[in-house]
Amino acid sequence: MSSKGLSNSIRKWVFVLIVPVLLLVILGSIGGSDHKLNLQSAHVNLDDKESLQRGAKYFVNYCMGCHSLKFNRYNRVAKDIGLTADNGFSDDDVVNLLRENLIFTRDEEGKPVKVGSLMENAYPPKAAKMAFGASVPDLSLVGRSRGPDWIYTYLKGFYLDDSRPMGVNNTVFKDVGMPHVLGNLQGWQVKEEAHGKDGEHGAPVLKLAKPGKLNAAEYDRVVHDLTNFLTYASEPAQLSRKTIGIFVLLFVILFFLVALALEKEYWKDIH
Ligand code: HEC
Repeated sequence: MSSKGLSNSIRKWVFVLIVPVLLLVILGSIGGSDHKLNLQSAHVNLDDKESLQRGAKYFVNYCMGCHSLKFNRYNRVAKDIGLTADNGFSDDDVVNLLRENLIFTRDEEGKPVKVGSLMENAYPPKAAKMAFGASVPDLSLVGRSRGPDWIYTYLKGFYLDDSRPMGVNNTVFKDVGMPHVLGNLQGWQVKEEAHGKDGEHGAPVLKLAKPGKLNAAEYDRVVHDLTNFLTYASEPAQLSRKTIGIFVLLFVILFFLVALALEKEYWKDIH
């Protein structure tokens, strides 16, 4: 084999090895996870439009009294969660559905806000500070800052604690200022310190002391839907980004094969 042929085949192998490794590194870095806390997996599925619709409804009913989603507009959310002409909803249907199910806030003149409005609310930060000892954060970006598994575990992690002003504490957010707003649904939990075999501290175990309206599986579904919705809300573009991403990767692979074939063709007469 000539030296040219050798360097050529080395080049080819470098190409064949480096491209997949790079792809793995890029894909791996997308899904960074937090191992410090004992988080439960939220199994978010942004293609599940019904879950997103239920999540949006729970959000405006149970959360929006305090939290805003100030980077999201109602009509964009409606479109993204599947209230579209493709699914048989006319523009009027969407406006009506929004008015009946999602839009409960009013503007300064007391009229319901428009369907193109941002999902803001009117909770004054100062009042929040006085009521909860903490300001109420906007949740537009919480899906990214905390991550879905954290939100899921947080909403399942409230337990009774007499020493706290709201009467509850939380396994992943110590001394949290938020009351357990889903307590009527989930019921009220107490924390028991678990002791491992050797008397070591295990992860704390939460036990249901007083049942709520829902059983454990039903409550998990509510929390899953809420987490799904907040994950979507933190990056609406990811619905299309992921599909585009798959096409881009397919194109890269296809292009790689064509380039390889072309390279073979170019060098086939040179020995
Ligand atoms: C009564 C007001 C109130 C309601 C209703 C409420 N929250 Fe909260 N929430 C708070 C306050 C106050 C904090 C800040 C707690 C702190 O900093 O100690 C908070 C914090 C949070 C956080 C943590 C944000 C972060 O990154 O620190 C999440 C997530 C959250 N709430 C989700 C929800 C969801 C989901 C709902 C609806 C099911 C909800 N909240 C309903 C008052 C409320």
